[in-house]
Amino acid sequence: MIDAAVRIRAMLAQDVVAADRVLRVAFGTHMGLAEPAEFMGDAAYFASRRAADPDAAFVAEFHDQVIGSSFLTRWGSFAFVGPVTVAPEYWGLGVASRLMEPVVALIDHWQITQAGLFTFADSAKHQALYAKFGFRPRRGIQVMEKTVCTDACCDLPWVTWGEMPTDAREDTLLECRRLTDRIYPGLDVTREVESIGAQYLGDTVLLGNGEPDGFAACHLGPGSEAGSGHCYIKFGAASPGRGGRERLRALLQACEQFAARSGATYLTAGVSDARTEVRDALDAAGFNVALAGIGMHRPDLAAFCEPGAFVIDDWR
Ligand SMILES: CC(C)(COP(=O)(O)OP(=O)(O)OC[C@H]1O[C@@H](n2cnc3c(N)ncnc32)[C@H](O)[C@@H]1OP(=O)(O)O)[C@@H](O)C(=O)NCCC(=O)NCCS
Repeated sequence: MIDAAVRIRAMLAQDVVAADRVLRVAFGTHMGLAEPAEFMGDAAYFASRRAADPDAAFVAEFHDQVIGSSFLTRWGSFAFVGPVTVAPEYWGLGVASRLMEPVVALIDHWQITQAGLFTFADSAKHQALYAKFGFRPRRGIQVMEKTVCTDACCDLPWVTWGEMPTDAREDTLLECRRLTDRIYPGLDVTREVESIGAQYLGDTVLLGNGEPDGFAACHLGPGSEAGSGHCYIKFGAASPGRGGRERLRALLQACEQFAARSGATYLTAGVSDARTEVRDALDAAGFNVALAGIGMHRPDLAAFCEPGAFVIDDWR
């Protein structure tokens, strides 16, 4: 065992390049790609996620080499784990289990009421790894994609966060927090919206006049989590209750208009199979499944993966 010689520590800015390389090779190998290092193309996770929350990014170091990493993303009372990656030559030696330890400690320390993660539905190894830390498989998560229509229409007006006057942004964030709090108590993606803005990763679409009827934090293009030619809805939500289906449809329309305006060819959106209305809306808008996985929850509760929760996300 290499266990004693592996050191788990916070990810530093200078670790990002090595950790990113491990991520691509690890996923590329797992998926059987001819060129594993080319996994994900010019999309990138690590620099921006680490910058958004340096306390929640970890590496495994062996003989001064980064051989793996793990992340936790906090959305208020909810947090999701991942990516967790280990260089293929070190698989099966307990490195990922070690990388999960600080992640789970943070979940507990932050008093997260619901944690989740996206993993491969057909991998006993992946599910066994996370089960050791209290995660239980629940429903499928579909990452869906459509070709952007350049003349897409939208039933409601919308603006982006980047277009708003800076002095109006604080109030808007508060309203977005109120909206997500109605979906799941304490759910708060403020940091996601701010990080996208501050790091020029894309923009946030805000639906409606005044108090938003919905919003979608979108990554756009190379260097973001979307990659070239893509607009990726990292988190989107329409306000719940009566008329939610219509607001959700309009939110998807607004995102498509935003994607078209930004020159993206594809729009990507993820959804839990438990969110029946959202899946219906994505089907109706012409999205197809590009990647299927499973959501694992800790504790084993639905949280906001249930009918009536008009949420778009995939926890990758
Ligand atoms: C998934 C991944 C992170 C695992 O890393 P790892 O260091 O090999 O994992 P560990 O050795 O810590 O743990 C694997 C666990 O799964 C168990 N396991 C492996 N195959 C199994 C199987 N077929 N059935 C049940 N359990 C299995 C192992 O026994 C081990 O548990 P144990 O320590 O209690 O024995 C690594 O394979 C990887 O980077 N894969 C590519 C990227 C990826 O898929 N990341 C995760 C995305 S959700």
